[in-house]
Amino acid sequence: MRRQHKQRADLTFKHNKNNGRHGWLRLTPAYSIKIVHQILQDLSADLSVLDPFSGTATTTLCAVERGHKALSVEINPFLVWFGKAKVRQYCLHALESAKRIGQTIERTVQARQVEPAPTPPIANVERWWDADHLDYLRLTRAAIEAQSDKETPVRDLLDIAFCRSVIGLSNAAFNHQSVSFKDTGRRKPSSQLSLWDCQEPDGDGRFARDLDFILETARKNPPHSGRVVFGDSRNIAGFVEDQYDILITSPPYPNRMSYIRELRPYMYWLRYLTEARQAGELDWEAIGGTWGIATSRLSDWRPDGRSLLPSYLEDLLDSVVTGGPKSGQLLANYIHKYFEDMWHHFQSITRALRSGAEVHYIVGNSKFYDVLIPVERIYVDMLGAAGFKHAKAQTIRKRNSKKELFEFDVSAIYE
Ligand SMILES: C[S@@+](CC[C@H](N)C(=O)[O-])C[C@H]1O[C@@H](n2cnc3c(N)ncnc32)[C@H](O)[C@@H]1O
Repeated sequence: MRRQHKQRADLTFKHNKNNGRHGWLRLTPAYSIKIVHQILQDLSADLSVLDPFSGTATTTLCAVERGHKALSVEINPFLVWFGKAKVRQYCLHALESAKRIGQTIERTVQARQVEPAPTPPIANVERWWDADHLDYLRLTRAAIEAQSDKETPVRDLLDIAFCRSVIGLSNAAFNHQSVSFKDTGRRKPSSQLSLWDCQEPDGDGRFARDLDFILETARKNPPHSGRVVFGDSRNIAGFVEDQYDILITSPPYPNRMSYIRELRPYMYWLRYLTEARQAGELDWEAIGGTWGIATSRLSDWRPDGRSLLPSYLEDLLDSVVTGGPKSGQLLANYIHKYFEDMWHHFQSITRALRSGAEVHYIVGNSKFYDVLIPVERIYVDMLGAAGFKHAKAQTIRKRNSKKELFEFDVSAIYE
């Protein structure tokens, strides 16, 4: 059955690039708007939609674009800021002010009429940006801060355009679990998947072009604003008060992919991170985080004994422990903690769902050594144990060239 599923780029973040605001910033673990639209298309109008793992707020923007109400929850403060800015309605006045200020910024930078902002404290900064690009970005950052007021819609638009320039001018490629950098010369090797496709030879004018793109796409306002809130979806009491008709989300996958890895350049430039340790601390808070200190904390992690995990998971964890003499135990802790966290989420989220609410978790399975972790099956069993009915997993697509890795829509009804 599975053999027919192809790698379908249209069902990944790549599809969002040319879809208005969905193309503002690219996050590799974001899912395709197509998946969300397909789920919503057969349902009635005027629903309330919940996404407990917002990322770049794809779900909420899709839902409000179709006229529904929607709320996204996210634990990373940068993504909360970005999601809010992405789903907001912008008035013409804000768009025109941003355009005018953008022109002043570009002039200020060209004439070097501003003291450059400090170099962001990201490790190996010289590998991320060539010296002239770094200089251009520092001047642009300083001009944005001098010309616009903090925490206003205008500043948000300028900052999003700046984030695009940050990645557009960087040498980084996120083509695998680790970040790689081009060696010399201006062009990225075509085999590498850059975080943001950019072939611009120099920095000058880059910000103005990015701002044009942001303003053009911000012009198309959704019929009403969606909401994005900061919170931990393992315990939603206190920040999700209403009850929702449908939940559509892509939670973290148990595949050791840290969101913070790809978000670091933005987070350092916009000062969500001021030192390296904070990145690990933030990742430890997120489900499935493994960055920096998060990995060393996993070595000492022990299950809380309160989670209802399927009994066959124990055998799988034992196989992972024996599969790798060096890091088997660490990986088993990682997987165990992941499912324990997801169990707390499933238990907690029921209070935010109306009776009869449909839930959709878009999630991938994973493999450690030779041990395949059937994430979709474990989700189905955990949803059943948490009080959901009719839980099932449908294969959506093949994930990459590795055999046996797929993405699934795990759905169920809360009764
Ligand atoms: C796979 S991404 C979601 C991508 C999203 N569907 C999109 O299209 O951009 C999962 C998100 O869950 C967030 N996350 C991880 N743990 C969380 C938690 N405990 N509560 C809320 N959000 C969390 C991560 O920061 C990440 O942004």
